[in-house]
Amino acid sequence: MDATRGSTVRTTGLVRQFRTGTERLTAIDDVTLEIAAGSLVALTGPSGSGKSTLLHLIGAIEQPDQGSVAVDEVEISALGRVALSRYRQRVGFVFQRYHLLPALTVLDNVIAPVLPRRGRTDHAARARELLEAVGLAGREQALPAQLSGGQQQRVAIARALMGQPRLLLADEPTGNLDSTTGTQLLDLLLQLREQHGMTILLATHEPIIAARCDRLIRLGDGRIVEDVDLTDGEDPADTYDRAARLRL
Ligand SMILES: Nc1ncnc2c1ncn2[C@@H]1O[C@H](COP(=O)(O)OP(=O)(O)OP(=O)(O)O)[C@@H](O)[C@H]1O
Ligand SMILES: [Mg+2]
Repeated sequence: MDATRGSTVRTTGLVRQFRTGTERLTAIDDVTLEIAAGSLVALTGPSGSGKSTLLHLIGAIEQPDQGSVAVDEVEISALGRVALSRYRQRVGFVFQRYHLLPALTVLDNVIAPVLPRRGRTDHAARARELLEAVGLAGREQALPAQLSGGQQQRVAIARALMGQPRLLLADEPTGNLDSTTGTQLLDLLLQLREQHGMTILLATHEPIIAARCDRLIRLGDGRIVEDVDLTDGEDPADTYDRAARLRL
């Protein structure tokens, strides 16, 4: 395990079903994949193809009906209650809808996930640093409702990074942003990965975001329908060309 490179992720025969009335819907249908430490992976596919569900399974927010998830070679389903809660704290999750707590200030929203941890008194200082990193210095005391969608999304990212995650699961983090802000946000994630060592799995519909990732995994009806390596040594200046070739 290399602490500077982020976590490895392996899913084996992952299945997740939902009951809707009398029907049974298979949201994730036998997904087996391996994600290398430190990689930035774009998860794409049409609405309803299972992107959020897969992220929830890897983040242990939902349990699979079959199959398993291993992070750094540790099977998540084998973890006891305490270890599981520690695992969840170590994974950064940016939800599709930001899920900020409306009554808390920006600063307190960022601190919230680590409050249960004892023995650390520098939470506020770290939260301020992260807010500065996401370009929100000076807005610490604002309430979420006083921020734009993009700013709220950046608070959600600062919050996800609070626990110094080695794995960041980001569910359409640029989905509500204009393309310039979305690109800046990706720059920020890449910079944070550089500084802290993180594996990032990012659900996105946007070719220009996916084109800058190391790998693209496309889901269709809960299955992997395409899995391509994008680290082919292309000049980053060709990102727009590549984006145009990706059919998202
Ligand atoms: N809690 C739930 N109960 C019932 N069905 C669900 C639930 N969560 C997801 N589903 C269904 O599982 C399938 C996959 O949903 P999921 O949210 O993972 O898709 P997605 O790829 O993230 O879509 P989007 O791009 O719209 O966010 C969909 O058919 C959805 O309706
Ligand atoms: Mg989704």
